Amino acid sequence: MAEEAESKKLYVSAEDAQTYVEGVLKGNGVPPENARIVARCLVGADLRGVDTHGVNRIPSYMARIRQGVLDPKAQPTLHEITPVVAQVDAHNAFGFIAAHMGMAKACEMAKTYGIGMVSVKHSNHFGMSAWVVQQAIDEGMMSLVFTNSSPALPVWGGKEKLMGVSPIACGAPAGKEKPFILDMAPSVAARGKIYKAKRRGEKIPKDWALDAEGRQTQDPAAALEGVMLPMGGPKGSALSVMMDVFSGVLSGSAFAGHVTNPYDPSKPADVGHFLVAIKPDLFMSLDDFKQRMDYLYQRCVGCEKMAGVDRIFFPGEIEQLTEERRKAEGIPYVDAEVHALNEEAKKVGAETIKVKQQ
Ligand SMILES: NC(=O)c1ccc[n+]([C@@H]2O[C@H](COP(=O)([O-])OP(=O)(O)OC[C@H]3O[C@@H](n4cnc5c(N)ncnc54)[C@H](O)[C@@H]3O)[C@@H](O)[C@H]2O)c1
Repeated sequence: MAEEAESKKLYVSAEDAQTYVEGVLKGNGVPPENARIVARCLVGADLRGVDTHGVNRIPSYMARIRQGVLDPKAQPTLHEITPVVAQVDAHNAFGFIAAHMGMAKACEMAKTYGIGMVSVKHSNHFGMSAWVVQQAIDEGMMSLVFTNSSPALPVWGGKEKLMGVSPIACGAPAGKEKPFILDMAPSVAARGKIYKAKRRGEKIPKDWALDAEGRQTQDPAAALEGVMLPMGGPKGSALSVMMDVFSGVLSGSAFAGHVTNPYDPSKPADVGHFLVAIKPDLFMSLDDFKQRMDYLYQRCVGCEKMAGVDRIFFPGEIEQLTEERRKAEGIPYVDAEVHALNEEAKKVGAETIKVKQQ
């Protein structure tokens, strides 16, 4: 990944990153159990190499708490609609807390009835979708994980920001091989990668975004003023609309361009999520299902490679390998990031982040 080639890295163990995040969250009024869940999701993103959606989001999330547009103490509530359908009202809590509650309920319903579907309203950004998929995998479940997000993409043919760069995610457990975890934004690149480039003073590739005048740009600040480009033209734009239908329209949350940007302090985000858990052994034994997943994995990674390719990866595998490495080596941050994180700790008298001795 590009960040590996950057300036000097400061390594932090996952445990110390978890302690840091929990401390800052508690210092900002988040109850301890919820702080533990949010921290696990953010550190989980950093472990998987999804640095755009990890611990570095803390300053912007804490700013939302201070601005009064994200409620650190809110506890989502759950309402059972049918034996296989439930609704979560996040009450403007962290998206992590609401989605965690929703997926736990979806898995519980799926274990009994084969499927569980949960719609989440009045929520916030939940970061990397793959952690919700992993939550289902840990319960032995397949899953669909959808969310909508603030406007960043045009609909195909449009120029204005209207749809979100809303990730589509799903997963399935395997036997002895790696599970399937797809987690992808419908843009050429996730907008978090532009924020990261801006934070790190780097250029972005030309095909990621247009500036406010509709021209290709390599300047992340100019790109944030313009629009992200959808992957695959109208197909990426259609996937973004799909995330809005299932997460926004269906749930009763904001949709059609009305989700608030995480960096906009004027009002709550009102994000919606759509979570489904599916029991994998509905049509055959669990052993058969797992063997078939393993076979699919082996067929995919073992197929004949195109010229110049050394290794083929299953969806989610690169991130799982990064996680194994970072669990051993620590999570790399740059100096400016550690500085910004420590400033947040100082504001609430929490422990600063502990950098490993090199
Ligand atoms: N919550 C939000 O509003 C929001 C918005 C945008 C993005 N995000 C998050 O940003 C993250 C990054 O999204 P992205 O689209 O940039 O991800 P990405 O392009 O890095 O990866 C997309 C998918 O492709 C797979 N993949 C990538 N390279 C591969 C390869 N060489 N071989 C096989 N599979 C490969 C990955 O495992 C992943 O499942 C995601 O975790 C997403 O949930 C969140």
